[in-house]
Amino acid sequence: MAHANLIDGRAIAGQILGELALRVAALKAFALTPGLAFVRVGEDPASRVYVGRKEKACADLGIFSETHVLPYAATQAELITLIHRLNADPRLHGILVQAPLPKHIHEAAVYSTVLPEKDVDGFHPVNVGKLMLGDPSGFHPCTPAGIRQLLIRSNVATDGAEVVVLGRGNIVGKPMAAMLCQKGPGANATVTLCHSATRDLPAHCRRADILIAALGVAHFVKAGMVRPGATVIDVGVNRIDGKLVGDVDFLNVQPVAGKITPNPGGVGPMTIAMLLQNTVRAAEIRAGI
Ligand code: GUN
Repeated sequence: MAHANLIDGRAIAGQILGELALRVAALKAFALTPGLAFVRVGEDPASRVYVGRKEKACADLGIFSETHVLPYAATQAELITLIHRLNADPRLHGILVQAPLPKHIHEAAVYSTVLPEKDVDGFHPVNVGKLMLGDPSGFHPCTPAGIRQLLIRSNVATDGAEVVVLGRGNIVGKPMAAMLCQKGPGANATVTLCHSATRDLPAHCRRADILIAALGVAHFVKAGMVRPGATVIDVGVNRIDGKLVGDVDFLNVQPVAGKITPNPGGVGPMTIAMLLQNTVRAAEIRAGI
């Protein structure tokens, strides 16, 4: 059984989508269809693919979605005007502005404009603050929330575990570290956040019971950086000669790891499932459920 230690993100996302389908049906019984707006700026090929997958996932689950595409040269003021319009649209329960944005647009200003109750990405400062405070009323960013679900549903114990997160980005690394050090299921871990200035990063990695690679460097995590039996989560999406590869040198790390996510087929489907979950929850909150 060569693949006995794989964490199957597609299968686990499928379970979650099955649970969400029941919640969507319940909302529709109250004549409420959850709605999600996507905003893309420019024609970044990866962003087109990601938004396309998210649109399809919405359609499959019976969530209404609409996509707004602004040209790369659009101004920050134009983007913010669009977001104000989406904030005021009662058909929409969630708004997702796909990152990265063009360099001339200040991402923080844009994410601060999305109403916190429609911020299904969990990027608004109010939701970031609630995550830090352990206030469960906020939305959690989709990729770290999905990783947490992967760990819970694969029976990977996090309570008291040594977790090493590689990468300090706002979308994955930082919120992942904040989430895993909270009290509660799928958390309560001892978290080390490593980044480009970390001294002897491989030594930190080798201490990890759970190693989460979200730094965006192809095949960065080598077999010698992984403690035998550790759980390895590969968040990276890198392109080498047109081929997609993760942050983990999968072929060599898989035999050492206790459990490992394939990439693709690990974290990616979970990010989408969590986006839909946040959107359904936003609709439920609006409906007073
Ligand atoms: N770009 C990469 N990941 C994400 C995400 O989760 N949300 C948004 N909006 N953009 C991203």
